[in-house]
Amino acid sequence: MLTSPGSRQLYIETYGCQMNVSDSEVVVSVMQDNGVAYTSEPEHADIVLINTCSIRENAEQRVWGRLEVFRQMKKKKPALLVGIIGCMAERLKEKLLEEEHLVDLVIGPDAYRELPALLEEAGTGQKAINVLLSREETYADISPVRYHKNKVSAFVSIMRGCNNYCSYCVVPYTRGRERSRNPESIIREVDGLAAKGYREVTLLGQNVNSYKWEEGDGSTTGFAALLEMAARRHPGIRMRFSTSHPRDISDDLLKTIAGNPNICRHIHLPVQSGSSRILKLMNRGYTREEYLERIDAINRIIPGCAISTDIITGFPGETDDDHRQTLSLMQEVGYDFAFMFKYSERPGTAAAKKLTDNVPDDVKSQRLTEIIKLQGTLSARSKKADIGRNFEVLVEGTSKKSAGELFGRTSQNKVVVFPAGSFKPGEYVKVNINSSTPATLIGVAAGPVI
Ligand code: SAH
Ligand code: SF4
Ligand code: F3S
Repeated sequence: MLTSPGSRQLYIETYGCQMNVSDSEVVVSVMQDNGVAYTSEPEHADIVLINTCSIRENAEQRVWGRLEVFRQMKKKKPALLVGIIGCMAERLKEKLLEEEHLVDLVIGPDAYRELPALLEEAGTGQKAINVLLSREETYADISPVRYHKNKVSAFVSIMRGCNNYCSYCVVPYTRGRERSRNPESIIREVDGLAAKGYREVTLLGQNVNSYKWEEGDGSTTGFAALLEMAARRHPGIRMRFSTSHPRDISDDLLKTIAGNPNICRHIHLPVQSGSSRILKLMNRGYTREEYLERIDAINRIIPGCAISTDIITGFPGETDDDHRQTLSLMQEVGYDFAFMFKYSERPGTAAAKKLTDNVPDDVKSQRLTEIIKLQGTLSARSKKADIGRNFEVLVEGTSKKSAGELFGRTSQNKVVVFPAGSFKPGEYVKVNINSSTPATLIGVAAGPVI
């Protein structure tokens, strides 16, 4: 670390997806290299950065609420610099610099290398902004600083941006064009994590299946090859990845997962809707039938693989019949887990421009309640099916509820709690499951994994 006791301190707060979590680690790295130390206490900070999300209206609302807190803090401590970075910075640009917000810095997701220069500018009382998106930036050579408490599991960003333009989604506008990171730098980062004792790595991208790196000689590395390379090199490390797009999750990738026991038996495959008509309006690039065919392929090629999803309810024009199709698809797949959202119109997206947000809010709420209730049943069923079985659990830490218990996850990404005995975080433990709660499997250790 290049920081000294008297150095300036940065506090950073992160909203949104795993990519943002990973980006905040890049930001802390850039700052440390410029003599600014990380602090987990906002009161100690000279610089506060909020890494923001624009995916839904309520994600932005939350940030406005936090900004109000930091505004008050700045009134008491005028030298405090407050910056908005990430997706909201990219979406709202100069608007965030308007006087009343008391924001000093606005930095988009591709401009984090410019942070030290922008901070200097802001330090002289000027407002500083850089929201340029890049076609190349992957922060490949920056070593993220993993400042979170979890020293077992880490994110590794392998690509940035998205070219899919799902009609409801703001990401292609806030993150820019899709680009992949040099595989050598990815493997080097995974090697570094292994050396530090990390036991799980999640490879991240908005659409990891389209990961593609082209060498000067024309040879290419795709996602399946990259995943296999990382998994084979580190058999003691669990590999996860997120997110896959249903349109291009290939048999090739499924076979790679099946053939490598340390690639986790869990695929997050966002469906969004069970109605082909709505999927077309969403510009998702697959039908209900095509999606279900991919689910069949997962079940056939990787038996025992957990499947989770994202669902949007109340998309423009969604009828009761479309909604019922979503429910029936959920039943048919039997998801182990799901993130479920009410449609939120995002300015500038194709859906906002061409379609009317015409499902009344109470109908959206009603449908969301039904979807959540059904998923509750499916999740409970999925957990009940695990009772009586043994699972290899990677221990992540001490249970929040009881110091005598540890928690970790199975390869299928289900959380398990069990009496600690002499086991420690970072160890693989064979656990026999004897009961379940809505969120967790409960078990007892049957011994270490040899
Ligand atoms: N790249 C990933 C995830 C993107 S954002 C993917 O394509 O799967 C995570 C989830 O937020 C999406 O899968 C979608 O379910 C939800 N989402 C995105 N835009 C939304 C919007 N405008 N309203 C409600 N939910 C949205
Ligand atoms: Fe958004 Fe679609 Fe890209 Fe996912 S694939 S980030 S939902 S545009
Ligand atoms: Fe949100 Fe940006 Fe991620 S909009 S979901 S933080 S890519």
